[in-house]
Amino acid sequence: MIEEKAPGKLYIAGEYAVIEPGNSAILVAVDRFLRVRLEPTEGLGSLASSQYGRLPVRWRRSGDALVLDREENPFDYVLSAISVTEKYAREHGRSLGIYHLTIDSQLDDFSGRKYGLGSSGAVTVATIKVLARFYDLTLSPLTLFKLAALAQIDIQPNGSCGDLAASAYGGWIAYTAFDRDWARRERAGRSVSAMVELDWPHLEVRPLRAPFDLRLIIGWTGAPASTPALVAMVQARKQRRETHYEEFLAGAKACLASMIDAFDTGSTARIQQQVRIYRKLLHALGQGAETGIETPALDLLCAEAERFGGAAKTSGAGGGDCGIALFDDSIDLTPLFEAWTRGGILPLTLQVFDETRHP
Ligand code: PMV
Repeated sequence: MIEEKAPGKLYIAGEYAVIEPGNSAILVAVDRFLRVRLEPTEGLGSLASSQYGRLPVRWRRSGDALVLDREENPFDYVLSAISVTEKYAREHGRSLGIYHLTIDSQLDDFSGRKYGLGSSGAVTVATIKVLARFYDLTLSPLTLFKLAALAQIDIQPNGSCGDLAASAYGGWIAYTAFDRDWARRERAGRSVSAMVELDWPHLEVRPLRAPFDLRLIIGWTGAPASTPALVAMVQARKQRRETHYEEFLAGAKACLASMIDAFDTGSTARIQQQVRIYRKLLHALGQGAETGIETPALDLLCAEAERFGGAAKTSGAGGGDCGIALFDDSIDLTPLFEAWTRGGILPLTLQVFDETRHP
């Protein structure tokens, strides 16, 4: 039996702008995990998940493809990750095996609701990691990211893949999005290994060091949000020229550059200042839309965090899920947690996860 895990993630800044190639986001991996367990078997393999009551989908191999016993299955990210990793394994001379995969996720609550901590990214990364061990392949974080990105670009065409970078690298990162159209074009007729070896235009993942007194606080609204629906809404408004999209992108670029510099120079106050600026940029982006990026619950989460001296904003697409607040560690957070709890916001006690420090 082999088990691998991948952490959940949160966006600190750069959401929506990072969908455009060449734009950056800052993300952080947190110590809530999605685990994938692999048990070799013969005959029929299976896929099962704690999220779906462990109901297994059985599969067999036909040539290189996995044939499932059901048309409807909730494992599209897992299957895409298997497909890319097994191509890569075959290109490295491995013969393919049969196995049971079991997924256990801490990125959902007990009723199966997602926290918005990046479960699809984490399941992609964890599946690739467990298969890499099964096929005895050593992957650098960059190769792991590229395999995950190749698995994701077909099923989530508008996704920036920032979640994958956070889950693959851990810690705090500055992620600059690659050109997904380029990747889709280039992969046709190329092996996975050849694709991985190319330099991907714009792509950069740079680990950041957080100032020692920076404290990350996370609040969960309890309201599920649909990232694809919100991204489609923002894209449609951009097409209809209902937002000042170019101004948003210019503002985001400047904000991210300042925030990365603030990380590099270890200034918590300047990071907080840029979080507030990014919140305003997201407000402007969503202004006049039917579905808000910052819902009333997220507004309350941010307002209370500001009241107690933090800088706060939505994290990710918004519309529910989680918000983040950054504090300097001299501040007592008990009154904030009480205020959040009174307002229906659940404080999640998560730590930053950095594998280089927590092997
Ligand atoms: O809602 P989340 O945590 O999956 O983040 C989405 C972030 C976006 O920039 C809106 C989309 C993306 O793929 O980067």
